[in-house]
Amino acid sequence: MSSHQQTVHDQFDPQATAYLHSAVHAHGPDLQRARQLVEAALPRTGHALDVGCGAGHLSFALAPVLERVVALDASESMLATVQSAAIERGLATIGTRRAAAEALPFADAGFDLVASRYSAHHWTRLDAALAQMRRVVRPGGHALIIDLEAPEDALADTHLQAMELLRDRSHVRNRSHREWQALLAAAGFELIEHMRWPTRLEFADWVGRMRTPAQNVSMIRRMQTEAPAEVRDALAIEADGSFTVHTGLWWARAA
Ligand SMILES: C[S@@+](CC[C@H](N)C(=O)[O-])C[C@H]1O[C@@H](n2cnc3c(N)ncnc32)[C@H](O)[C@@H]1O
Repeated sequence: MSSHQQTVHDQFDPQATAYLHSAVHAHGPDLQRARQLVEAALPRTGHALDVGCGAGHLSFALAPVLERVVALDASESMLATVQSAAIERGLATIGTRRAAAEALPFADAGFDLVASRYSAHHWTRLDAALAQMRRVVRPGGHALIIDLEAPEDALADTHLQAMELLRDRSHVRNRSHREWQALLAAAGFELIEHMRWPTRLEFADWVGRMRTPAQNVSMIRRMQTEAPAEVRDALAIEADGSFTVHTGLWWARAA
């Protein structure tokens, strides 16, 4: 395990219950749109892989319209949480697998859909992980990526990434729409649809979920108050530190 992978594990493994109950993760128009897209494009016999499943919200949204969903994550406690929550919800078609996105332990072309939600910004080798996702999905199958979308504006982007890293040391990078277009094309996916929704991050909840050290919370607050007006506007930074970014959804076909 690399040092970064250990950091990801240390950050997420104790937080599975917090992620199961997090409103930002459990709900959202992206989950509804994901299910609509999958229901319209895949047969009921479809098999999906959810990479970086966390507490399983994307798997829970897709399982009712598919035959099988494999929920994959690097954290064993996230996977245990997915298993018990899936049983509680009567979703017996969800299986779990512990692995890294960059080394998927599956045969070529075995899935009809490869998906990931709010995880790719932790992957150091995103191009390698997307290549793995392309390898395990069948030609003509689909990819569904959901993640916080970086602003195209460089100054707002730098402030967002800095706040993210201070909040969570396992943060690597949120990508912009332009970056996702290039990454998906390079991995062999043809983009079909891109949508985005505003996502308000409530400050106390956002730092609490990652147990951000108090010193870092102060640094984030200071960065926010010292940010130029155009950054405060772009990120809609509020008096209590809450701010609004966008959740992006990229729906693509495996070429
Ligand atoms: C914010 S949570 C995911 C939320 C979840 N997908 C949902 O829809 O609510 C991010 C997850 O990505 C996992 N993760 C991060 N980097 C990973 C990697 N390289 N391979 C596998 N899982 C990874 C973490 O362990 C964590 O559980």
